[in-house]
Amino acid sequence: MIQAPPLSLAFDQNSVLQITGKARLSGSVKISGAKNSALAIMAGALLCADHCRLTNVPSLLDIERMSQVLTSLGIKITKTGHTLEIETQNLQQYDAPYDLVSQLRASFFIIGPLLTRLGIARIPLPGGCAIGARPVDLHVRGLQSMGADVHIEHGVVHAYVKGKGNRLKGTRIYLDYPSVGATETLMMAATLADGETTLENAAQEPEVIDLANFCRAMGARIKGAGTNTISIDGVKSLHAVEYEIIPDRIEAGTFLVAGAITQSAITLSPVIPEHLTAVIAKLEAMGAKIISTEHQSLSIIPGDLYPIDIETMPYPGFPTDMQAQFMALLSIVPGNSIISETVFENRLHHVAELNRMGANIRLKGNHAFISGVPQLSGAPVMATDLRASAALVLAGLAAEGTTTMQGLHHLDRGYDHLEGKLRSLGANIHRITEFQ
Ligand code: EPZ
Repeated sequence: MIQAPPLSLAFDQNSVLQITGKARLSGSVKISGAKNSALAIMAGALLCADHCRLTNVPSLLDIERMSQVLTSLGIKITKTGHTLEIETQNLQQYDAPYDLVSQLRASFFIIGPLLTRLGIARIPLPGGCAIGARPVDLHVRGLQSMGADVHIEHGVVHAYVKGKGNRLKGTRIYLDYPSVGATETLMMAATLADGETTLENAAQEPEVIDLANFCRAMGARIKGAGTNTISIDGVKSLHAVEYEIIPDRIEAGTFLVAGAITQSAITLSPVIPEHLTAVIAKLEAMGAKIISTEHQSLSIIPGDLYPIDIETMPYPGFPTDMQAQFMALLSIVPGNSIISETVFENRLHHVAELNRMGANIRLKGNHAFISGVPQLSGAPVMATDLRASAALVLAGLAAEGTTTMQGLHHLDRGYDHLEGKLRSLGANIHRITEFQ
């Protein structure tokens, strides 16, 4: 077996991660830019027929895929390190290709900007994934209420703006669920609509605020991002901008759990602590100490851990994107814990893999009943989705012996060089290319 070359963002299907526990970590690690902010902001760049420069963009498969989607529409994109230059003058295509959209749900978010720029959009339904059906009805209904004619035919969403001037109309929209993507799609569509749009029961995630700040930097008039009511006053056009993506709160939370699960003291930065309030609260309730030593940095100090119950909720509740990581952590905390996944209908696949490593977790519907075990043991495991793959890496760090994880393309979608960062903290983790 040979060691794979440094992470290439190709679809790495021939490698495995080999993790040897029990790891003791120390030192500090740099947190990359937020995936879910960068993806939405890349779609938002379509709103202006000019040049956008995004900095602190993470190097991820999903970013590469979103770049491919935008390029297929005629957009010129160059990525140098963590800086993305996006030239959107030449937007001609309104037809996004199925093979790209089907691999990246976030690419559906371009429907709002396309409608405002071209008055027409044809986007394949993103379809479901391992964690659920992932419908887009809230996006579609919101755009229809803004005056777009939207219908679905042969798995493709056909949308166009009726009437002269191709402008969507501002209106009041109540979201049945505070969907992150629907809030972002409709907020973007409203920036260039005719009149004012109010989004009620809107998502409050930090990535929604980051997208709103990006659009405001381009000249959009948006108030209330980060609350459940966002109002957008449509303007005629937006201008070029340079914008820095916020740090990734889910990557930061994943590293906090890495410290907790290996009983290690580690420091991470940059991080915005208020983006992690629920995660920090749960770790402290479990007995961990989290301190903020310097500006935009957090340290975790290990201690005896106690069982807790967790229910995932829309922000500011406990994030569903941290559920799998806490499942791994609680699997070795003495006592009984319960995790309820309320956001996605099918986001508990990692439980079976954790049980193969010796965890004792029982599933009943969307509830996981965890009885902490003294020790996990390394095993061959299969990643099923992005956060499940992170959870299995964390479990491998804590387990006795070696864990070999397949399905690295899931991990590479959302983590920027995770194994390199963990190795720099002292973990024994390597990407190995398996012969065919
Ligand atoms: C975003 O997905 C994130 N992805 C997800 O992160 C995150 O888990 C999710 O928000 C929740 O926080 C990006 O930002 C690219 P939703 P999104 O619309 O927008 C239902 C990760 O691991 N719903 O808030 O797709 C939906 O089925 C990924 O980084 C509808 O019913 O999430 C789900 O049950 C995974 N109709 C719930 O809302 C709709 O039209 C939340 O989905 C839209 C959503």
